[in-house]
Amino acid sequence: INNGLASTPPMGWNDWNKYGCSISDSLVRKQADAMVSSGMQAAGYKYINIDDCWETSSRDSSGNLVADPNKFPNGIKAVADYVHSKGLKLGIYNDAGTKTCAGYPGMYGHEQQDANQYASWGIDYIKVDWCNTSGLNAQTQYTNIHNALANTGRAIVFSLCSWGQGSPWLWGASIAHLWRTTGDISDNWSSMINNFDSNSAHASYAGPGGWNDPDMLEVGNGGMSATEYQTHFSLWAISAAPLITGTDLTNMSASTKSILTNSDVIAVDQDALGIQGTKVSDSNGLQVWSKKLQSTNTVAVVLLNRNSSASNITVNWSSVGLSGSASVRDLWSHSNVGTFSNSYTANVAGHGVVMLTIAASGSTGGGGSFDPNAHYKLV
Ligand code: DGJ
Repeated sequence: INNGLASTPPMGWNDWNKYGCSISDSLVRKQADAMVSSGMQAAGYKYINIDDCWETSSRDSSGNLVADPNKFPNGIKAVADYVHSKGLKLGIYNDAGTKTCAGYPGMYGHEQQDANQYASWGIDYIKVDWCNTSGLNAQTQYTNIHNALANTGRAIVFSLCSWGQGSPWLWGASIAHLWRTTGDISDNWSSMINNFDSNSAHASYAGPGGWNDPDMLEVGNGGMSATEYQTHFSLWAISAAPLITGTDLTNMSASTKSILTNSDVIAVDQDALGIQGTKVSDSNGLQVWSKKLQSTNTVAVVLLNRNSSASNITVNWSSVGLSGSASVRDLWSHSNVGTFSNSYTANVAGHGVVMLTIAASGSTGGGGSFDPNAHYKLV
């Protein structure tokens, strides 16, 4: 929905990848504190999202959803108030079917009642899952929920989670801000790269207000190397994917923090044109991915080495729409590496990337100077 709530891909944190059902009021508050103190908020992250397992196993006598009093003794509104006091926003989770994936009450048949309750609690974002939906049509059910949310009058980001069922890229943008295109990510290389590849097939449907979602980030959770996490983050950024982190923000390593707060890479993800990058060449697992940026005659490029040993990878200007001489910036070394004609070659570690912005010099016209930093700034 291009209504200004997700003009660029949403950025935030969600508990699921690290904590599963082991969630609580104090966990959520600590993560909100850490989002501010770690510099994540300053880097652009703003949603703190509660996933499955926040509810009790049945509705109350009025049919309302109830927060588990052992996990959330102060209720959800108190958590929302706390998160809002930090300048952050609160997200919650439910399911379009009769029960959530973990077996708690789903929204089916209670769409308006539940939407009203979320709005009264001050919820800013909702992810709606697709378990226990047998016989239901994804487009119809998610449209019902969209209508219920719209009726509340509250600005709520709507995240569809049907794992690609019902081909949500075909209709998602008219009722939601993001839609999952894949099954769940796991914290390993093959899962991450599979989700990236599947998500890339739907690039033409992404744009401001409606994003393909290859699932939440695993950066920092321990199952991949630092090089692979850097690749994970780069691939999500070139895909204009939502950047919903899923690690313990209170205890990030220096490496995790520097990946998640890399402003050059985040700026590619958040570029105002909202184009999802696509593959422009592939030679035996040595690939070039490209995403046009708002800045004049500028593209972001990922040189991706899917193999296990280091190799040179070349991006030819002709494959990314540039010509002549162009200035190259390396987004992980944060350095302007120089001006090159026709192509640029870098050595790329196994399972690694080199991520660049490439700006055609002289294309800004009139002999004006070209500012190689202008397009890296967060909008
Ligand atoms: C399936 C979703 O795809 C996951 O992201 C997570 O929300 C779980 N369900 C929770 O049960």
